Amino acid sequence: MDTVKNVILVVDDDKTNLTLAQNILLPHYRIAAANSGRSALKYLESHRPDLILLDINMPDMDGFEVMERIGQKEETRTIPVIFLTADNLAETEIKCFQMGAMDYVTKPFVPAILLSRVDKTIELDQYRHNLETMVSRQAEKITEDARRISAIQDSVIVGMANLIESRDGSTGKHVKNTQTYVKLIADELHARRLFSEVLTEDYIENLSKAAPLHDVGKIKVSDAILQKPGRLTPEEYETMKLHTTYSGKIIKMILGDLEDKDYVKIAEDIAMYHHERWDGTGYPVGLAGEDIPLSARIMAVADVFDALYEERVYKPPIRPIERIMQIMSEGRGTQFDPVIIDVFMEMLPALKQLLGIG
Ligand SMILES: [Fe+2]
Repeated sequence: MDTVKNVILVVDDDKTNLTLAQNILLPHYRIAAANSGRSALKYLESHRPDLILLDINMPDMDGFEVMERIGQKEETRTIPVIFLTADNLAETEIKCFQMGAMDYVTKPFVPAILLSRVDKTIELDQYRHNLETMVSRQAEKITEDARRISAIQDSVIVGMANLIESRDGSTGKHVKNTQTYVKLIADELHARRLFSEVLTEDYIENLSKAAPLHDVGKIKVSDAILQKPGRLTPEEYETMKLHTTYSGKIIKMILGDLEDKDYVKIAEDIAMYHHERWDGTGYPVGLAGEDIPLSARIMAVADVFDALYEERVYKPPIRPIERIMQIMSEGRGTQFDPVIIDVFMEMLPALKQLLGIG
């Protein structure tokens, strides 16, 4: 099979040298010749040779300046360069390598040496190129694998949370709904630069991914309590409250070994504290104000909104949506963080749009 010959650009102001280099290399390579630095740069505007043989001593623009220009352009900076020079000084050689040359050949040329240096440099550059391609393909594959694993993990989490949630006779939409509301609220707070020290983009992503887990502890609460149509007795209510600490423990147990500690912390906080109240009368701990993690304060708003908007085994949905907003606004500063609830009230048009309400 014929292989396409590599292209060598030879740059030398001395015509004899140009011809000599051409004669040595032509049987093995395709040659482009330039008799000045400027014409070499002109050629490089539209061509990408596989190697450049670059004379150092040229009038007008010397080889070092040409090399510098080559190094400044994205399209040319990786082309290997071999310098050509008539002098044998160590400092010239050092400068050549400092400038990024792959090699250095003295004139007058010894044909076998010039050819061998060119061959080796081309070979080395091809190895480098192949290695780079391989590394970048591997990196792409690793990123893709990580993305797929993360997507699987997310869908397992949502699926598991849905299974647990469906036991209490809710519509099964609560998990996905609350995740949507949490993200919507967090994005709005972020856009208004509120809680900006905590509420980074990474935090919001973790918050959104962790939201579906907030009630996993309900798996330990009996069906008799979860599916009871009427009001819970005080004892039943105490048992129901335990779903928060159960959730926290389950999350620690199943996610505690994950390296992403920020995500695990947010998941635990949401699960543990989403029924805490701003005034300190919530459960399970009775935290108040900003002692309640921000993630849980946002979740509390999303959770209550969805609970009021959707039908439950123990209650019909509340309508219209303005009535829900009214009820929730009454919890400003008692049940809910006042800053979050104020922003939430202004989100009514966005909520209506999301829910397809005219
Ligand atoms: Fe809950």
